[in-house]
Amino acid sequence: MTLPTPIIAGNWKLNHGPRATAAFFSSLIPRLPDTLAGTVAIFPPSLSLAAARDAAATRPEILIGVQNLYWEPHGAYTGEISAPLAADAGATIALAGHSERRQLFGETDRDAARKAHAAVAAGLTAILCVGETSDERDAGTAFTVVERQLLAIAGDDGPPPAEFLAIAYEPVWAIGTGRTASPDDAAMMHERIREFLGTLYEENASSRVPILYGGSVKPENAGDLLAASCVDGLLIGGASLDPDSFGAICELT
Ligand code: PGA
Repeated sequence: MTLPTPIIAGNWKLNHGPRATAAFFSSLIPRLPDTLAGTVAIFPPSLSLAAARDAAATRPEILIGVQNLYWEPHGAYTGEISAPLAADAGATIALAGHSERRQLFGETDRDAARKAHAAVAAGLTAILCVGETSDERDAGTAFTVVERQLLAIAGDDGPPPAEFLAIAYEPVWAIGTGRTASPDDAAMMHERIREFLGTLYEENASSRVPILYGGSVKPENAGDLLAASCVDGLLIGGASLDPDSFGAICELT
């Protein structure tokens, strides 16, 4: 199902164990409006998934997701988690290809695409993260890089159904740096991504793929970014760890 927009998603990375997760939701939930205008999603570390699911039980429309998974469903893969296991534990959404996975753990475009497809095969919505480094931007190849990352999702058998895919444009130079893309820069890239998705999907299906912006989003800049053309949501790292700042961003929707 296409997620209602705007999508406000928090990527906690390697932060917040089960106890901190419970505390986060008890602060966040009273701040949220009774009816959410779009979608709120939290990606805790996998060890905190059950705590997040339980803590958000009164607001089942808050999506809980996994930050990473392996594409095989089960087997002798010590240390991995899979999409069917994540779904069994209460996840309905998964990130794939976050730049930290690519840069720190050597994940390729193909790996990210396989993860996104595995997530969708298990009934999860996949958010494929794409974005260029500052060297690539300076060299004028930002869109070529993003296009290559997007193209991998089509693979040999075509992209996943549009209803189960979202894209997060996260310029690597903006992640955790305090340097945000301007709303105009974000809009320019999002418009090109939207156009490119049109080449991967038939007819109007591509318009059903939400495109999120990520990279140093804070309550102070979130409103302008959300108002930019083709920005259907935000993927927030640092500012999602604090229920006040994450709640303040949710309140903008
Ligand atoms: P940041 O992280 O908001 O801390 O820059 C964003 C992300 O990595 O998804």
